[in-house]
Amino acid sequence: MTILRIPGLVDAHVHLREPGYEHKEDFYSGTAAALAGGVTTVLDMPNTQPPTATPEQLAAKARLAAAKAVCDVGLFVAATNDLADAYLPAATRACGLKIYVSDTFGSLRIDTLDLMHRLFRTWAERARDVGYRSDGQAGGLGPVAVHAEELMLPVCLNLSRLYDAPLHVVHVSRRSEIELIRVAKERGYRVTCEVTPHHLFLTTDDAARLGPLGDMRPRLATPDDQCALWKNLAVIDVFATDHAPHTQAEKALPEPPPGVPGLETMLPLLLTAVADQRLTLDDIIARCCVNPRRIYGLPEQPETWVEVEILEEPIAWRNEEMHTRVGWSPFAGIPLRARVRSVTLRGAPVYADGTLLAQPGSGHVLFHAAG
Ligand code: DOR
Ligand code: ZN
Repeated sequence: MTILRIPGLVDAHVHLREPGYEHKEDFYSGTAAALAGGVTTVLDMPNTQPPTATPEQLAAKARLAAAKAVCDVGLFVAATNDLADAYLPAATRACGLKIYVSDTFGSLRIDTLDLMHRLFRTWAERARDVGYRSDGQAGGLGPVAVHAEELMLPVCLNLSRLYDAPLHVVHVSRRSEIELIRVAKERGYRVTCEVTPHHLFLTTDDAARLGPLGDMRPRLATPDDQCALWKNLAVIDVFATDHAPHTQAEKALPEPPPGVPGLETMLPLLLTAVADQRLTLDDIIARCCVNPRRIYGLPEQPETWVEVEILEEPIAWRNEEMHTRVGWSPFAGIPLRARVRSVTLRGAPVYADGTLLAQPGSGHVLFHAAG
């Protein structure tokens, strides 16, 4: 039996759904799924109900996370059309600013250039006082993280360049997008990007088989797009899941919400790619540990590691083994070559062989004094 010991992973893009959508996930079930996936730090997205768009809403969410989380949690703030940059007084307590400019779940899509301009300008002005964490300023700001597909990508690249604000492009999925980011990096733009496991391992060829269980934003892309992601691995800074749970009943509705869970399958999928010699273990550790910590200025977790078993024979993924409240995966039935066996966080065993050992509230809320 081969057991590997690796550092705890960061998943820099998860939707833990609290407050407002606890029937899909909450801080306990979502961080339990994280530990089951070998993830010891998650960065939570702001498209909850209400969204995380004011200092009060951020503080309320931090209290929920502090009471329930079993791994460490950073919280994004959101720009909204109505509240604009109301989050600014609490900007240093967020892991970053999330801006949606493409089709998504919820109502956070920004409508106007006027507001986009204001958001980049005010974030950069705030950073003039406190700096950016990615530059080593401990009390500084995180990046501007954008959901910007297709023609919205150059808009965001340009605003980031004009204001010298670090840009992080989430879930890049198309050839045109990864190639544009490659050129921007070559020209010295302050841009980083992430890619999801579902865009690395599924394509439009899987969409008919999966139906609504394969529907997310960005949608699954063509095999040619997927090929471009793998060819440009060096341009990809981060692997992050976009863990976006919706119940199976919601997915069966006439207009199902987009999004798929991913926290528990990311590491088994990536390690299967290592077994297939498409990735190295160092590729995973760079993109799931080292780079997200640098981009978001996340603290180290001492005495924290994950033990994974590399299986002699691949075993099909089973929904029944999952901890996410929604209990399904688009990878159900897919043979995978690895399983997470145990997780140790700050010296304490927190997960072992399917059983959660951590107490609710043992996770830290990052960038909040008490955490
Ligand atoms: O598929 C998605 N689901 N894409 C998004 O942009 C949002 C997410 C969600 O929150 O469900
Ligand atoms: Zn997302």
